[in-house]
Amino acid sequence: MQSFVKEIDFSKSEILSLIELSITFKTLKKNKISHKYLEGNNIALIFEKASTRTRAAFTVAAQDLGMAATYLGASEIQLGKKESVVDTAKVLGSMFDGIEYRGFSQEDVETLAQHAGVPVWNGLTDTWHPTQMIADFMTLKERFGYLEGLTIAYLGDGRNNVANSLLVTGAMLGLHVKIIAPKDLQPDSEIVAIAQQLSHGNTLTITEDVTAVEGADALYTDVWVSMGEDVDFKERIDQLLPYQINQALLAKTNKSETIVLHCLPAFHDKNTLIGQEIYETYGLEAMEITDDVFQEQADVIFQEAENRLHSIKAILYMTMTGNDHLPKA
Ligand code: CP
Ligand code: NVA
Repeated sequence: MQSFVKEIDFSKSEILSLIELSITFKTLKKNKISHKYLEGNNIALIFEKASTRTRAAFTVAAQDLGMAATYLGASEIQLGKKESVVDTAKVLGSMFDGIEYRGFSQEDVETLAQHAGVPVWNGLTDTWHPTQMIADFMTLKERFGYLEGLTIAYLGDGRNNVANSLLVTGAMLGLHVKIIAPKDLQPDSEIVAIAQQLSHGNTLTITEDVTAVEGADALYTDVWVSMGEDVDFKERIDQLLPYQINQALLAKTNKSETIVLHCLPAFHDKNTLIGQEIYETYGLEAMEITDDVFQEQADVIFQEAENRLHSIKAILYMTMTGNDHLPKA
């Protein structure tokens, strides 16, 4: 039994197996073929931060596999306030067969994994978003048919969880990865060092220069302010507006077939509370991606979102059974 608290918990071949298994589970789901391989198991879902996709994907994946999933909102359990991470790990580990944790500190999810005695899955921390990566690279595999040699360019906050994960996973899987962000928002040197160690022949580029998108097969962006960050929106907007994915930026790829990925949620219009506030305060109709680009790329972006379900199912199956393939029918 294995936990998945960061990408480097798995080897390149294990990550590739997870992607293949995700595609297999997607076929089973589409064909309505029952796949209750984990009947009788129970998993806990701890969320210290909000979630739509990750929570829904873990819940439905568990149910499709025949398991029950119990949501434990951090504000409703003792964790942190009256009970330590270690004690919580021991208690939940004695009742559940696996634990998902979304929170702030990477150290907490690693402590949970050390003491739970059951697999622990990182549903996002300030440092990494590993389950997102299986869906993202699965989507690239579906779109292009291969991964090695593709070029992916991430634009925006280049030192958030998603950017860190993308840099490291892309490096491991043989993609050319570009993190395009202002100096202050570029990845930490430790993250870059991990990625460099994992890459073999594929290039890793960290730059402020948006023209580096030229030739990219895929662009990727994420929100400019991540959950839990206490920053001045105006400052972030000023820093990141030149990195917005809009038609002019897309044209700089010099490629008509470039796709755009976004882990979601996205600020592409005014139809959210924050989107409306940003519009009223700063006159911006969108932040990291303009609505026209978002709508043109909606097929791939929502395919990526749906793939969270299939990939989380593969992660649950592989870590709880130790198998990277399904039993023969
Ligand atoms: N992409 C992602 O993790 O979405 P949620 O925050 O809705 O889970
Ligand atoms: N970087 C974002 C990702 C959300 C899925 C955040 O942490 O808020």
